[in-house]
Amino acid sequence: MSRMCELHIQSVADRVKDICHTLCTPARIEHMLGVESLARKLVPRTEVPDETIRLLSWGHDMFRDLSGSRLLAMARHYGIDVNETEETYPTLLHGKVAANYLVFCYDIDDEVRKAIHWHVTGSTEMGELGELLLIADMGEEGRPFEAASRIRLKAFVDKKKTVLDVLRSKMLWSLRENRPLQSEIVLCWNNYLRRDLSDAD
Ligand SMILES: [Fe+2]
Ligand SMILES: [Fe+2]
Repeated sequence: MSRMCELHIQSVADRVKDICHTLCTPARIEHMLGVESLARKLVPRTEVPDETIRLLSWGHDMFRDLSGSRLLAMARHYGIDVNETEETYPTLLHGKVAANYLVFCYDIDDEVRKAIHWHVTGSTEMGELGELLLIADMGEEGRPFEAASRIRLKAFVDKKKTVLDVLRSKMLWSLRENRPLQSEIVLCWNNYLRRDLSDAD
């Protein structure tokens, strides 16, 4: 990555942090700090620089505390194809809205965009940064449930298998809460499971 590119990401990440401090709750800020801390530990600096980790960690939930009506309005503004489940539960749109906002305002890198865009459901398109964000989002230190600590530990051993654990956890939550499963998460689960099974052959 060029120095100019790093400087661009750094200034965008700083700006996004400022926005988060005006739009997000204190608990959300704590969560973002937790995501940043775990994501930093999971990959070496030579693979993913600090400023990219910072942008992922703060950008993914920058709009998580906005109202549903505001998220729907922003989704329509950016021409996002809102599905029936997102129409009913607009909070699910916060990743897609943030990714579109960051591209529109700051022309962010496509790998960062995909990671933020897909962090709610996962996707076969999310890439390695998407896997990192998915894991750090679920496994960060502030998450109080048992599955999070298992995810946190396993991520240091095998990221691909940990992605499956994160998806399982997300789907079980939806089932317990009587929420619909989004097609993206099912497709992502099937794809990662198939890869895991073929690796085991
Ligand atoms: Fe999120
Ligand atoms: Fe999050």
